[in-house]
Amino acid sequence: MRLDKLLANMGYGSRKEVKVLLKQKAVTVEGEVVKDSAMHVDPVKQNVAVFGERVEYVEFIYIMMHKPPGVISATEDRYDQTVIDLLDPYVQHFQPFPVGRLDKDTEGLLLITNDGNLAHNLLSPKKHVPKWYYAKIDGVVTEADIEAFANGVMLDDGYETKPGELVILSSGAESEIELMIQEGKFHQVKRMFEAVGKKVTYLKRISMGPLQLDAELELGDYRELTEEELSALIKHNA
Ligand code: URA
Repeated sequence: MRLDKLLANMGYGSRKEVKVLLKQKAVTVEGEVVKDSAMHVDPVKQNVAVFGERVEYVEFIYIMMHKPPGVISATEDRYDQTVIDLLDPYVQHFQPFPVGRLDKDTEGLLLITNDGNLAHNLLSPKKHVPKWYYAKIDGVVTEADIEAFANGVMLDDGYETKPGELVILSSGAESEIELMIQEGKFHQVKRMFEAVGKKVTYLKRISMGPLQLDAELELGDYRELTEEELSALIKHNA
């Protein structure tokens, strides 16, 4: 890959800023000062350094975000801010995308990566990746709803959902629940409750496979996955 692209991708500034670094003789390849921004390098095999510090080449990035409401789970949107707009330029350089979608008004765990294979596996209907949601429901949630979700309910388009696990945290005029689903149909949680005559008034995803939303992350905050989280995710997908 081109040297300027590598350095820009690894957070050493824009291609213009990288040119300045090269002019300053700050960049070496295998110990030799290099000034040619178009030079082709193999960042895995060759020792590329800036001010004497080796550039660690990273191909993939894995971000856990606490998605805030009002933001779209997409890479770009004409009208609204997207989850990618919330990332800093270093992370954006990796051209990441959200793994699946949360509705504009839904909060919670969103994985953002540029690893297409991992994303594909996590979203594959064959993998049945369990996703847990916390929700507030307008209406009394009952044992009958637990049973209905466990058996699968029919959505408004005739689709029969796979078994879901419903846990009632509190039941009243406004109920609080947690629900595990194995699929990711459009508006699935909201439509499952509609199927039993109830309305979701607040929705937050709290886990996806082995990944749990980090309670330390405020709305709109994000961080890279830890090595443990990433290996658990890869193992889960294998
Ligand atoms: N189900 C929904 O209804 N909305 C979401 O954002 C996620 C799951």
